Amino acid sequence: MHIPVLAKEAIELLNLKSGDNAIDCTLGGGGHSRMILENTKPKGKILGIDIDPTKLDDLQKEFDKNFPNKAKFVHGNFRDLEKIAHDFGFLKAKAILIDLGFSSFQIEDPNRGLSFQDEEAPLDMRLDQSKGETAADLLNSSKEEEISKKIWEYGQERFARAIAKQIIKRRKNNPYIKTKDLILTVLPFYKKFEYSRRHPATRVFQAMRIWVNDELGSLESVIPQAIEILEPEGRLAIISFHSLEDRIVKWRFRDFAKRGKAKIITKKPIVPSEEEISSNPRARSAKLRVIEKI
Ligand SMILES: C[S@@+](CC[C@H](N)C(=O)[O-])C[C@H]1O[C@@H](n2cnc3c(N)ncnc32)[C@H](O)[C@@H]1O
Repeated sequence: MHIPVLAKEAIELLNLKSGDNAIDCTLGGGGHSRMILENTKPKGKILGIDIDPTKLDDLQKEFDKNFPNKAKFVHGNFRDLEKIAHDFGFLKAKAILIDLGFSSFQIEDPNRGLSFQDEEAPLDMRLDQSKGETAADLLNSSKEEEISKKIWEYGQERFARAIAKQIIKRRKNNPYIKTKDLILTVLPFYKKFEYSRRHPATRVFQAMRIWVNDELGSLESVIPQAIEILEPEGRLAIISFHSLEDRIVKWRFRDFAKRGKAKIITKKPIVPSEEEISSNPRARSAKLRVIEKI
């Protein structure tokens, strides 16, 4: 079960009123969407988008029962937000939420290879498994410089160059197939005593997830589209989980504020309380920023 992160704070700062229409760009398990509809009932509607179609049908049924005719859930990438919103008649919205990253059920899914916990999982990592290259495809076909650059830029992995070199060497006879193939490539670069702090493959896995799903590109492109769709005084809230994402949100929000198109509501990012972190460790690195359209 996925526990929504910074839910109370996000809902409060979205400043929802009865009858407001909202878009949840990252529907996941529907936790935030449920709270949004609770705060906009009886007339408020929600459009929910997720790149991963696996939960959409069940969620649609659940919401149709609990909030009849108030929720429409669609499969898509939020980088196409304007088109999706247009196609489903959400030309304007009072609130837009983007809760980045993955749901617990995706991380735990053994067919996805998002986590290094399951070493036999296919090295896939795509959130939308219907298209695009898997992490294994990228490692088996990209040039050494590109692999090194991505692992450094997206993972800030200090052994990026050496790991990329090792990947090229290994793949000649042993193409990448399972998560353990990548884990075994990374482990020798770390000393045993370093394992206790965090798994040595954490940074490389983060880099591959960002690369495979073009996470930063999607985030860059959704922000201006969201601001365009918002009504005046409508709010956009973004919850990010690592510094690369947070930096993009911070700077894009500042650009819009400087150009007089929006007002920043959170001068500093909102972070989870100690209490939330202890009950949901996934919240640890979360940061919430909110902007209001002028
Ligand atoms: C952290 S979860 C959201 C959890 C949700 N707020 C809840 O309360 O259950 C992030 C979700 O965003 C989806 N996602 C990630 N990148 C996406 C993208 N570019 N477009 C649409 N959905 C995306 C993931 O598939 C995942 O389901």
